[in-house]
Order: sequence, then C-alpha cells, then structure tokens
Amino acid sequence: MNPPKHIAIIMDGNGRWANARKHNRVYGHIRGAKVAYNIIKHCAQSGIKNLTLFAFSTENWQRPKNEVSLLMSLLIKHLKKEMKTLVDNNIKFNTIGDVSELPPEVQELITDTKRNTQQLDGLNLTFALNYGGQQDILHAFKKIIALKEEGKISGDDINQELISKYLQSAFLPNPDLIIRTSNEKRLSNFFLWQSAYSEFYFTEKCWPDFSTNDFDLAIAEYLGRNRRFGKVPSTPTRESNNLYG
Ligand code: IPE
Ligand code: IPE
Ligand code: MG
Repeated sequence: MNPPKHIAIIMDGNGRWANARKHNRVYGHIRGAKVAYNIIKHCAQSGIKNLTLFAFSTENWQRPKNEVSLLMSLLIKHLKKEMKTLVDNNIKFNTIGDVSELPPEVQELITDTKRNTQQLDGLNLTFALNYGGQQDILHAFKKIIALKEEGKISGDDINQELISKYLQSAFLPNPDLIIRTSNEKRLSNFFLWQSAYSEFYFTEKCWPDFSTNDFDLAIAEYLGRNRRFGKVPSTPTRESNNLYG
C-alpha cells in the first residue's frame, strides 16, 4: 500500500474531554488547538502532502453563542501566532467551506494567511471552516446548472469528474484516510462525495489526547489495509517500511 496522499481528520471530543476533567467545554477547545498544532507540524515534517482538518461544521453554529465565539477567537489567536510557523515549515494554508459567514476578523486573517503561504509547496493544509458536505454538493450542482443554462456544457458533460471539479475540494485528491477521534463513527456532513473510497480510522481517544504517535498508528493501520475499489483482492503488501514512503 502506498502512503496516504491526503489525510482528513474530524477532530472530535474536545467538550467531553474537558467535562470529564470537570472543566468547561471551551477548555477542551483550547487544548484541542494545541493538538492540531502538533499534528500539523508532525505532518509537515513527515512529508505528507495533504492534511485537511474539520474545524467547524455548518451545523456548529447551533452551539451556545459563547462556545462559537470562543472557537472564532481561537482561530484568530492561532492564525496570528502561527503565520510564521506555517512559512518556516513550508506549509500552504487553504480553506474549504463558506468563510464569508465567519466574523470579519477571521476572514481577514484567512486572506492574509493564504496570501503569505500561497507560494509554499510543502504540506497542503486545509481547514474546513463552516463546511458541510451537502452544502458543498449543492453548491456544485448550482454552478453546473448555471453552466448548462448558459449553454457552456451539455447534459452529457455532467459526470462524476465534472461534479468533483466544482466541489470546494477540487484542488485536493480525495482523502485516502479519514480519522475521527472520540469514538464517534459518523461523518457528520464532512466530505460526503469525496469519501466514496476513503479508509476510515476511529479511535476512542478524544482530540485533546490524540498524539503524534496515535497519528502514526493510524497510518500504520492504513498501510496494512487492502483497498480494492470494487475489484478483486490483491495480496496486501508493504512497499516501504517507512510510514511515509
Ligand atoms: C470537536 O469537539 C470540536 C468542534 C466540533 C469544533 P466537540 O466540541 O464536538 O466535542 P464533543 O464532541 O462535544 O465532546
Ligand atoms: C463534527 O463534530 C464537526 C467537527 C469536528 C468540526 P460534531 O461534534 O459537530 O459532530 P456531531 O454533532 O457529534 O455529529
Ligand atoms: Mg463533537
């Protein structure tokens, strides 16, 4: 099995982690942000090409106002603080999701961070912010319908490839591996189209406890799997002893 080209993580369990320690949920988010920093750096140093982190879903607006604003403040704090870390580690910053609904200060920092890291060609780091898989597909449909109405494409041009091209993740390969922490086994509206043949890795650990070693364990398990894509099985092989090829 080749090393994964794209790993996506549903960083879940911050609130439960904090509550189990008699802390407020927001404390879990503060600790979770530190874990995200460690995983991003580890990924960049390991030579993985694409990492996507699900940080805020289209449904997460329904949380208490103070939790949503804490999450936005954390984004502001870390984007400001880690701009240099991204540049020093050759990390290109991208987002998927409708950032136009985020607070103006977050939007400005996202624009600055994208601009400052645009030329970098190490890790492609994508934050899914105000992202929903159904909304992504709906958005692509609307664009395709508009193209058809303008006469730029015919009905026969509409195929899987075209739909993928109009998804917000068009600049990324489909995720090879999707990791979700905190023992929840669902997608929660993440990468619905893109996960058709993704491998899933679930761990009981909540996100604030997820370590770089846990990340390597997920990759090791992935490397031992046999992805068949609907074809007949091939003998599982390891092409390299190095986790990252
Ligand atoms: C993940 O942790 C972070 C976000 C969704 C922003 P949660 O906040 O969902 O934590 P739990 O799942 O309630 O424990
Ligand atoms: C998914 O987690 C969203 C993120 C990790 C950003 P949730 O905690 O929002 O998902 P549910 O509510 O458990 O399905
Ligand atoms: Mg959760």
